[in-house]
Amino acid sequence: MNIQNRRVLLTGASGGIGRELAFALAAQGATVLLSGRKTLVLDNIANAIVNLGGKARVLPCDLSAPGGPQRLIDDATRDGEPLDALVNCAGVSYFGMTEDLSASQLDLLWRTNVIAPMQLAQAALPAFKQRGQGMIVNVGSIFGSIGFPCFAAYSASKFALRGFSEALRRELDGSGLQVLYVAPRYTKTAINDGAVSRMAEAVSMKQDEPQAVAQAIVAAMRADAKERFFGWPERFFVRLNGLFPRLVDNGLREQGKQMRPFAQSSASAAP
Ligand SMILES: NC(=O)c1ccc[n+]([C@@H]2O[C@H](COP(=O)([O-])OP(=O)(O)OC[C@H]3O[C@@H](n4cnc5c(N)ncnc54)[C@H](OP(=O)(O)O)[C@@H]3O)[C@@H](O)[C@H]2O)c1
Repeated sequence: MNIQNRRVLLTGASGGIGRELAFALAAQGATVLLSGRKTLVLDNIANAIVNLGGKARVLPCDLSAPGGPQRLIDDATRDGEPLDALVNCAGVSYFGMTEDLSASQLDLLWRTNVIAPMQLAQAALPAFKQRGQGMIVNVGSIFGSIGFPCFAAYSASKFALRGFSEALRRELDGSGLQVLYVAPRYTKTAINDGAVSRMAEAVSMKQDEPQAVAQAIVAAMRADAKERFFGWPERFFVRLNGLFPRLVDNGLREQGKQMRPFAQSSASAAP
């Protein structure tokens, strides 16, 4: 996709990866519609983009609220200008033992990571189909291909998003519409604050900078890619897990043991 002069709706724009994506998309000439709940943060990003000569607008939205995704698409197209791309980057994570996850945390995680991207896609699709073009980018995770201990609910949500992306891509085959699923590995953002980052240091998890991840996502969009899994050896383990999951069980056994104390402390610190 040639991003120049395209209108791109970006959720999670106030977050670590989303903020960098906003700048990277604007630098390619897109008009970026920045969404999230933290309006002040979004305003600052929009002002910074405009000061750099780019185009950005802020569209606040709580995606977990009933009707939130449809309202966001309505707001994004209210001026009569069509959308060219929807980038589903908003997400939440939960690190802990599965039995310690509360019903409301599970509900929020699923609504934000799975239901909202699906409803946003549903709301965007009719206009995309009418124009015979449009791109949906879903930001998943390496944990959406490798079920990770102490991230069971988060992994499940990203498996669901990957499944949705794959099925939708096949459903839209021949329509001119595109679906891109991207899977970052551990990235240094606020989603990993606290126990997750202490655990990652302890197990020497490889870590990416959000700028690098954002650049890779934009490169995948420009290349009309269908899927991108970031990082080595993570890409290899995604393949291995698909073919020989028992090998990955064995490979993760020691790491899982190291992770559990951090996961238990994380749950006891959770509200
Ligand atoms: N960092 C990693 O290690 C990593 C690895 C793989 C995949 N990912 C994925 O990358 C995406 C971005 O994560 P990040 O690392 O940038 O995390 P982050 O810094 O915590 O940002 C999360 C973003 O999601 C938005 N969000 C959360 N709940 C929302 C809600 N109910 N309504 C609207 N927006 C909501 C937040 O906006 P507000 O707070 O303003 O609402 C924020 O912009 C997520 O989908 C995440 O799963 C991250």
